[in-house]
Amino acid sequence: MRHLLSAGDLSLAEITSILNTAEEMHTIQSRPIKKLPTLRGRTVINMFFEDSTRTRTSFEMAGKWMSADTINVTGKGSSTSKGESLRDTMLTLDAMGTDCFVIRHGSSGAVAQASGWVKAHVVNAGDGTHEHPTQALLDAFTMRRHFRARAENGQSRARAENGQSRGLGEESFEGKTIAIVGDLLHSRVVRSNVLLQRTLGSKVILVAPPTLLPTGVDQWGCEVTDDFDAALEASDVVMMLRVQRERMHGGFFPTAREYTELYGLTPERLARLRPGAAICHPGPMNRGLEISSEAADAANSLILDQVTAGVSVRMSVLYHLLGGSPE
Ligand code: CP
Repeated sequence: MRHLLSAGDLSLAEITSILNTAEEMHTIQSRPIKKLPTLRGRTVINMFFEDSTRTRTSFEMAGKWMSADTINVTGKGSSTSKGESLRDTMLTLDAMGTDCFVIRHGSSGAVAQASGWVKAHVVNAGDGTHEHPTQALLDAFTMRRHFRARAENGQSRARAENGQSRGLGEESFEGKTIAIVGDLLHSRVVRSNVLLQRTLGSKVILVAPPTLLPTGVDQWGCEVTDDFDAALEASDVVMMLRVQRERMHGGFFPTAREYTELYGLTPERLARLRPGAAICHPGPMNRGLEISSEAADAANSLILDQVTAGVSVRMSVLYHLLGGSPE
């Protein structure tokens, strides 16, 4: 793998390899000393031209835990604020001997363009409203662990009840339904998830008001609806998306209250989730708008598991790109 720009570029074998390596990396989180020599001598530059808490910190942790030298560059503190072009900034940092750039940029397509200018590997950490492939990978990692745990519970219950084993293969994405709900128009997370989940074999239901549907969504191969309640009853995972007010320059829905009523994961909808269904949200959340605190903090919420998975999956991605030593 030379770059990670789009979830759609990954084959099933590549996704499986990244998720399996992330499982190995996951064990490091419970160790008192979180350090592997894997990427010793490698330099990773995190270039974030848009704000981030989870992605930037977890990439930095991922690099540091694998002994890479990690450097953070932001738009404000770099010479881009003096008018230097992205291309010149990239060429300058590439010339210093960078091994990998992790880039978040406000313009869709900017990261793919940047990857053509440099010798280093490039990871798309979110470009405009286009893609966020490592988010989709960490979502898949979290869901796979949830499906596996659910299957193991089912099997042990079945064994206890009648001595039979049940639920083999339940950790697979085949036959699973994932509802992705909310501001699809401005979401790079939904695009990457749809592409990744298509390869993994799950069914994706997209739920949004007509004003927040992207152009061409009917070509994405998903069921599209504005009926959240019907989707809720069919779903193994409900992924709520943030209402991205900072990207909204107009009235996309009449009032916040009406949005919550129709598209929010309220306490009432939480109570109607299928048994064993889980809640995801990529964060940051608007509590009280697209998700209630009751749902965000519920026992079946995987939101903090997603955050934890972010470090493991990004370790795995850096490992796949930069190659580790057998140590
Ligand atoms: N989910 C996500 O990309 O969060 P950050 O913007 O905090 O990185």
